[in-house]
Amino acid sequence: MSVRSVASSSVASAVAGRLAGGAVLSAMAAALPPYRRADLSVDARVADLLGRMTLAEKLDQLHQSGVGDANPHNLAARADELRPTYGAFIVGGPATLFALREALQRRAVEGTRLGIPALFAADVIHGYRTIAPLPLAQACAWDPALVRAGARLAAAEARAQGIDWTFAPMVDHCVDPRWGRIAETFGEAPHAASVFAVAAVEGFQGDAPGAPGSVAACLKHYAGYGASEGGRDYTYTEIAGPTLWRDHLPPFAAGVRAGACTVMSAFNDLNGVPTSAHHFLLTEVLRAQWGFGGVVVSDWNAVLQLVRQGHAADEADAAARALLAGVDLDMADGLYRAHGAALVASGRVPLAAVDAAVARMLRLKFELGLFEQPYAGRTPLTGAAPTPEALAQVEEMAARAMVLLQNDGVLPLAPTVRRIALLGPLAEHRAALLGSWAQQGRPEETETIAEALRARLPAGTTLEAVAGCSVAGDEIGGIAAAVAAARVADAVVLCLGEEPWMSGENASRSSLRLPGRQEELALAVAVAGRPTVVVLVTGRPVEIQMLVPRVGAVLAAWQGGTRAGAAVADLLLGRRAPEGRLAVTWPRATGQVPIHHQLRPRARAGREGAYQDLEDSPLFEFGHGLGYTTFAHGELRLAQPTVRAGETLAAELAVTNTGARAGVETIFWFVRDPAASLTQPGRRLRHFERAVLAPGETRVFRWEISPERDLAFPDADGRPVLEPGEIVLLAGGRSASFQVQP
Ligand code: GLC
Repeated sequence: MSVRSVASSSVASAVAGRLAGGAVLSAMAAALPPYRRADLSVDARVADLLGRMTLAEKLDQLHQSGVGDANPHNLAARADELRPTYGAFIVGGPATLFALREALQRRAVEGTRLGIPALFAADVIHGYRTIAPLPLAQACAWDPALVRAGARLAAAEARAQGIDWTFAPMVDHCVDPRWGRIAETFGEAPHAASVFAVAAVEGFQGDAPGAPGSVAACLKHYAGYGASEGGRDYTYTEIAGPTLWRDHLPPFAAGVRAGACTVMSAFNDLNGVPTSAHHFLLTEVLRAQWGFGGVVVSDWNAVLQLVRQGHAADEADAAARALLAGVDLDMADGLYRAHGAALVASGRVPLAAVDAAVARMLRLKFELGLFEQPYAGRTPLTGAAPTPEALAQVEEMAARAMVLLQNDGVLPLAPTVRRIALLGPLAEHRAALLGSWAQQGRPEETETIAEALRARLPAGTTLEAVAGCSVAGDEIGGIAAAVAAARVADAVVLCLGEEPWMSGENASRSSLRLPGRQEELALAVAVAGRPTVVVLVTGRPVEIQMLVPRVGAVLAAWQGGTRAGAAVADLLLGRRAPEGRLAVTWPRATGQVPIHHQLRPRARAGREGAYQDLEDSPLFEFGHGLGYTTFAHGELRLAQPTVRAGETLAAELAVTNTGARAGVETIFWFVRDPAASLTQPGRRLRHFERAVLAPGETRVFRWEISPERDLAFPDADGRPVLEPGEIVLLAGGRSASFQVQP
């Protein structure tokens, strides 16, 4: 640390620490430039520092650079690419991250004129070193506390490596599983995505986003990216106003209310205007309506892409459009740096617009405490392997996220099952369990389903593993051996699914069918006629309508993370019961997409308007999931038959565990507005609650309906509309109607 920075930081910390000898302190503090004084307001510090910056320093502050595999001991080799005056870097790759981050920060703090610390971000989506289930899987556990705790764990591990900022939670709304990034969503229900967005922001940021164990959160991808046409990535979206306000914007609004520090603008063009140049979204809604004061970062090269999208005439035009729309930090393409000075000189971009963006970057850094503590303190987690506590936590998450879709009684595997044929290309696959965005998760540390089962089998029970075919491609040499193993088994566990790169970013698929020759394997094994359980390791719902009638049970294991194997084994062996419920509708066929629980009624009933070659219903409904017990649902009771704005209406539903095992029941509360000025979804989820019920126990689930909160719907401009008339309440397979009175 250079003499100047030692003096300034020691005095700053002394002032901040309020050590004895006030007179000395005040003299020392007075010697510091205001922006270095922690006793002054953030506003004052921002104003002072901004006033000291040159335009070149301001434009560097609005640039975020990747660092790739930069060598922390030879940054000079990448001097211009990794300038110490850049506002932020994206890190996360190499295990040398901590050293690299400290080296880059030291140059920024001690090697530049103003010593402005940089921000270090990574895509910590579902875990950092210990990998949790995908967000889509976490949503299937229907427990905000689980999501919050998972984000907290990820933040602690990421912060320990020097990451200040994560590009999560992703809160896009998607009803098209062809889009690979459905894996990163919290499912298709906007209300659920809003609840989980808040839980994730709270988990990542904790009580203070700059505190040890916390990272700044980033709501992404704002907005509408999940409606990419045809499920193809990086394409445009056509979203009508009521749908935008009802389905796509609420999770972002909820995340902003929860105090998310940053928002990421998206790749998609929304109704003709790319979202990274969308002044209405980025400034009129996000800042003016919602009061968001944080930083907007573009997605990777999203500013440059404005040219290819047919919106900007050239790179300078792209930079101007993004900055004027409200994108503060330009990720990766460097267009703000390259063209900012000329744009200001020409008057196309007022200096005030640059200053406003820089001020938001500086404010974030002051609020994160980076000026006082620019360096990451080593903790026991720095560079460490997953702790036993972290592994136990993600194992619990995985077991609760998995969804038993079908079960003819073959599960849990009976003690009489003494010979198991464990088949399929996912039975001994490690990386697939971690899924996309697996950060520092290590496949070599990830127990396979086979290993987990073997470690738990009762004495005398044997397991023969045969892959049968590859995940993708045409390798089918093992099918005969798989069938042979099936024929002599008491039970077959058939593990099918996707490679980790088949979902996530740039992983759109034209078909949801199982990749490669897995269907052939499955059909051949089914012919053996043995009790068969299919375990699906996927990042999305996949097409299994040909499988379902031929097997006994289907378990959606998703990509469950570092301890997914153990979770699968415990569920199959009955050491714990499945409790997940689908947070996304499961189509019968690719051609049925989009199909979801918010479909609005067709003009005609019955088969009129349905695909004439397919059942009209999905294979498995939103909210579907089985356990190892059964529940009986009483009548849906309403406290009164009418409600007005300003009042609440109490609803109750009694549920009894009628089985022999404890089990988790999740009650979803939907509303249907059968006659509205804007036609409404067949069902809108407005509340959910899960509870563990002992055998024979009856639990009364209660919900207070607030007409303004739960029954109003947005018009094309997002204005809430509450109309008198009938509302149908649906929960637990029951329904009851009431009237909203004027
Ligand atoms: C990617 C993704 C975004 C991610 C960013 C940084 O293109 O769209 O989700 O956070 O770039 O890696």
